[in-house]
Amino acid sequence: MKLCVALDNDSMKENLALALTLKDYDIWLKVGFRSYIRDGKYFLEELKKINPNFKIFLDLKLYDIPNTMADAAQEISKLGVDMFNVHASAGKIAMKEVMNRIKDIPNRPLVLAVTALTSFDNESFKDIYNEDITEKATSFARDSYEAGLDGVVCSAFESLDIKNNISSDFITLTPGIRPFGEDAGDQQRVADINFAFEQHVDFIVVGRPIYKALNPSEVVKRILERL
Ligand code: C5P
Repeated sequence: MKLCVALDNDSMKENLALALTLKDYDIWLKVGFRSYIRDGKYFLEELKKINPNFKIFLDLKLYDIPNTMADAAQEISKLGVDMFNVHASAGKIAMKEVMNRIKDIPNRPLVLAVTALTSFDNESFKDIYNEDITEKATSFARDSYEAGLDGVVCSAFESLDIKNNISSDFITLTPGIRPFGEDAGDQQRVADINFAFEQHVDFIVVGRPIYKALNPSEVVKRILERL
């Protein structure tokens, strides 16, 4: 299991300072909407300067018509990031188009599909999709697998189901992780490290419990000791 730290601080300066304190760890860094919209490619380059071995997950959750998604995927592949994501609800055709467009790029980034956002509970999910969250997450995961993606972003509660029903090699990356039972914030379906292990999760994403901690490096160290 790998740790992916969400760089969701208020400014690039704070995010770079955080990355600097974590420079000796074998971790992934997650760059989301806010940072990328504000700080763009320059931010990615600065992170790689701090430690060229940092792996970067660009969490932009693409959702658009197939051609536009594939265009964006092609541009993302030029940024030197190691992983990015799309929404599975954009559909199988769009996901296939994305994979088709980047398949021949050497060292192409891994591509994951978001199944159900971890901020949804079953009721709020049903309001939109009219289906049970676990079943629909698994069916989104199957679509993503059939479209040739590398894995899914899902909650820890869906990971094992996806591994059992689809493929044990299909990557699961789970946000909403509170490693040692910290405050959930706006997340509805949170899990700790032990549960993530039981669910055969490949990547845990941890944001606030790390970047809001008094000593983020200490928290990362404790997490890595458990992995
Ligand atoms: O602070 P916290 O650990 O809750 O951060 C989780 C991170 O994972 C945030 O950056 C959030 O945008 C992201 N994320 C999520 N749920 C998803 C996909 C991404 O919480 N389904």
